[in-house]
Amino acid sequence: MKFKSYLFTVPSLLLSLAGYSGAVFSAQKLTFSQDILPIFEAKCLKCHSDEKQKGELRLDTKEWILKGGESGDVLIPFKPEYSDVYVLAALPDYDPDYMPSKGKGLTPAELETLRSWIQQGAQFEVESAETAAEASMDMTIQQAHPTQTEVKSQVKIKQVSYQLKPNEKAAIEQLKQLGVKVDHVHYDQSKYELILSYAKLNDDNFPQQSLIKLADRLTKIDFARLPIGDASLASLTKLSKLSYLDLRQTKITDKGLAHLNDLPQLEYLNLYGTSISDHGLAKLNNLTQLKSIYLTNTRVTQQGIKKLVQRYPNLKVSYIAS
Ligand code: HEC
Repeated sequence: MKFKSYLFTVPSLLLSLAGYSGAVFSAQKLTFSQDILPIFEAKCLKCHSDEKQKGELRLDTKEWILKGGESGDVLIPFKPEYSDVYVLAALPDYDPDYMPSKGKGLTPAELETLRSWIQQGAQFEVESAETAAEASMDMTIQQAHPTQTEVKSQVKIKQVSYQLKPNEKAAIEQLKQLGVKVDHVHYDQSKYELILSYAKLNDDNFPQQSLIKLADRLTKIDFARLPIGDASLASLTKLSKLSYLDLRQTKITDKGLAHLNDLPQLEYLNLYGTSISDHGLAKLNNLTQLKSIYLTNTRVTQQGIKKLVQRYPNLKVSYIAS
């Protein structure tokens, strides 16, 4: 049986941002029918359309894509980093969750097209002449102040003015030597995301100091499948910018969960396949930004989830009861 509670709204602020980035980077918006469907046809639909629906997911029409798969939404407009259609295809191809699970993966250019499409708001059809005219009027208004060139040069300044401090550089080198994948986040070149899943790490050699040195820059960390527990969780509390934390299939317990309350920016929390129970969930009481939580294959019950959602009414919970 499935229990899902989700409430996702696209704030109008983001819609206006989309228009804004359109003015800066390109006038032409990507659409599903023109730009994405051909990629999905070549690489995904064999397993995700009318014949087969692996993961209970179809990717051939707007309606099916918005319906999501067995673990919930797969597309979150404007948020490629939270959209599984993109995230799974962007994993390293040796990851067990990598998509496609068989056959040729997406090329870097195809991945970038998919990412940009979601980033721009995941439009499905080419705009009709009328809406296109409206959109271009919006753009003219935005361009009047500041002008397009001004915006461009501001963007440029932002890119060159960012520089790593020596201790930040050293921390990145140390992490890389441990086998940690260090990347910029797509939406902000001055921020970083880490994938630690393939590093040989546990609580005893946890790179606490390197993470703390990078505290101002770390927005996403993926610890999936590492044998780390509560001791390591306790050392994350200084990462005040962290918005995305994947702890799936780690050894964390209810006891450690209270530490997460010290992460004021946390929006995404994956606890899939951990020993967390209602008891641990009850400790999450200070995460004002939390938007999305994954609880399948844990010991939580629907009762515990109900209480959680009472505290966080806009939270999207992914949970399939076993
Ligand atoms: C050879 C078959 C195959 C191909 C091709 C394939 N997938 Fe999958 N996909 C699967 C299977 C099997 C699952 C279920 C995995 C599981 O449950 O662990 C899945 C699950 C998924 C899910 C998770 C659905 C959910 O809610 O759990 C997403 C998202 C996804 N695929 C995206 C894609 C994308 C994007 C492509 C193309 C780039 C693709 N897949 C190509 C077999 C395939």
